[in-house]
Amino acid sequence: MNYNWIKPEEFSFNSFLLMDRWIIRMMCENHLSDKDFSKNLAIALEYNPAVKWYFFHKCPESRDFLERLTADVPKDLSLQAIRKAEVFVIGEMETSIVYVYPELMNKNCDYIYDWNKNLLFELADFNDKVVLDIGSGTGRLAFAAAEKAKRVYASEPTDALREYLRDKIKVENILNVVVLDGTVEKIPYEDNTFDIVMSGHVVGDNYDAEIAELTRVVKNGGYIIDCIGEDNRKRKPNEELLKRGFEAFYHVSKSGGDIYRYRKKVIK
Ligand SMILES: C[S@@+](CC[C@H](N)C(=O)[O-])C[C@H]1O[C@@H](n2cnc3c(N)ncnc32)[C@H](O)[C@@H]1O
Repeated sequence: MNYNWIKPEEFSFNSFLLMDRWIIRMMCENHLSDKDFSKNLAIALEYNPAVKWYFFHKCPESRDFLERLTADVPKDLSLQAIRKAEVFVIGEMETSIVYVYPELMNKNCDYIYDWNKNLLFELADFNDKVVLDIGSGTGRLAFAAAEKAKRVYASEPTDALREYLRDKIKVENILNVVVLDGTVEKIPYEDNTFDIVMSGHVVGDNYDAEIAELTRVVKNGGYIIDCIGEDNRKRKPNEELLKRGFEAFYHVSKSGGDIYRYRKKVIK
């Protein structure tokens, strides 16, 4: 899905030099069957040897695939054809591109800049709680929760975003937010650690595994919250969350989107 958060033609293919190993791996695995993506990625990499070198070394498990992929790229392509391939790949990887430019994420993503933190506070009492935010991004949820919570652990797998969060913590002298790596599939904490475990725009690839992991780290009587931001998308309630015991809170965003926030009290 394209969100139109960026204009791909304004970005250098060198943006991929900022990417983490897991993103490169995902690019290679998820797009194996997409012929258009594979074709354009092959051209873009073959004509950007520094990026190809970086992919080989940052993500060695993708090396065989990338070598095969780029083996037959014609050697006489025009600059225009090469740029077209680069722009195609940049457009397809829009979300990952935005993640490595955190300031752009805040500026261009409506779900962040249009959001009001009271939409989070309505879902649970954060006062004095120990909270985990999974896939924090630029910290929309984490920094809001930190205004009330005892401590917030902001877990984020993208290195550029962890650095952004740490810079903000330093500049604003925020004393109760801790930044760490980690994914929803494998949360780097022991069982029953948090009063509230929250996320936004993260859960959804594998509901059973993800919710089992969120449930594992939340204390008995604690909450799991899924609080997306404000955008203009038309949605239906998420049946996957409802059938797993979440309650939904619905409103229409000011840009006309159907926004559902979810909450589940965990009883163990
Ligand atoms: C669309 S952004 C949302 C950021 C933030 N939660 C918000 O709503 O403002 C998705 C975030 O999840 C992170 N992410 C991607 N895959 C993830 C995973 N498997 N587990 C945890 N976080 C992930 C990305 O790096 C990115 O920061």
